[in-house]
Amino acid sequence: MCDRARYSVLTPDTLHREVHLWLLDLELAYSLCDMHDRMLSGDELEKVSRFASSELSYRYRATRVLLRYLLSKYLRTSPKEIQFTYGANGKPHLRPDHSLEFNVSHSGNRAAVAITANSPVGVDLEEIRSIPEASQISAQCFSPEEVRQLAGMATLQQISAFMWCWSRKEALLKAMGCGLSEPMNVYHVGARLPLEPWEISVTECDRAGSTWQVQDIPYSPACSMAVAYRGAPKELLVRHPTLSHILTL
Ligand SMILES: CC(C)(COP(=O)(O)OP(=O)(O)OC[C@H]1O[C@@H](n2cnc3c(N)ncnc32)[C@H](O)[C@@H]1OP(=O)(O)O)[C@@H](O)C(=O)NCCC(=O)NCCS
Repeated sequence: MCDRARYSVLTPDTLHREVHLWLLDLELAYSLCDMHDRMLSGDELEKVSRFASSELSYRYRATRVLLRYLLSKYLRTSPKEIQFTYGANGKPHLRPDHSLEFNVSHSGNRAAVAITANSPVGVDLEEIRSIPEASQISAQCFSPEEVRQLAGMATLQQISAFMWCWSRKEALLKAMGCGLSEPMNVYHVGARLPLEPWEISVTECDRAGSTWQVQDIPYSPACSMAVAYRGAPKELLVRHPTLSHILTL
């Protein structure tokens, strides 16, 4: 999956037809936090101080530091120079208005960063686990067809399929920027286990008629992960770098 030959080609020139998905091991990055906090902005540092647990605080800091490193390589600037602005529901974007789009997801000690150009992008990464309220959640958030698909599965398969369906939906809503403020059951993304890349046409949102791609990323049996973006299919490049790779890109 990892495409080392292309690590050095972090140019926005081909990004309009590619999605770069960076899979990050946050544990390795925790050591960087204290040293690199000075690259964070005032509002990021303020958010760091508001986390209830140090674990969540470290996760946020480590992800932001790595995100800044990654974006700085594409933009050929220093990580500290990167400026973020936030959409109505909190989606971070680059400031000033930039064709480069990104989205972040974290789960446990892993994070995923999706980067593309000229189309909004969303990513969701979840550790596959049994969710006690799964049936209430699927009744509320899944389409009738998705609920039927889940009901036809054996219990173990259901646990996994629930998480995959959730990741596809969350990636789609994050691409749109609305996050979970939008009703989820109007988007049918399927509850089956991962197959080929596929596309859906969203008909029930204020961007009616737009085509969005929702793609499964089956990179580990322990995780469900999906990336979504607007427009025609793009080439997906998955990268799983070591920390030193990121720092020396
Ligand atoms: C975005 C949202 C789906 C994140 O869910 P999550 O499973 O906890 O977190 P993930 O790890 O997948 O993603 C978090 C990242 O998504 C990004 N993000 C935040 N808001 C976003 C939005 N509206 N759309 C897309 N991405 C968003 C951020 O980069 C965030 O990481 P950061 O805080 O380290 O910068 C959720 O917080 C949400 O729906 N927010 C918007 C609406 C809202 O505030 N609702 C309140 C509850 S209904």
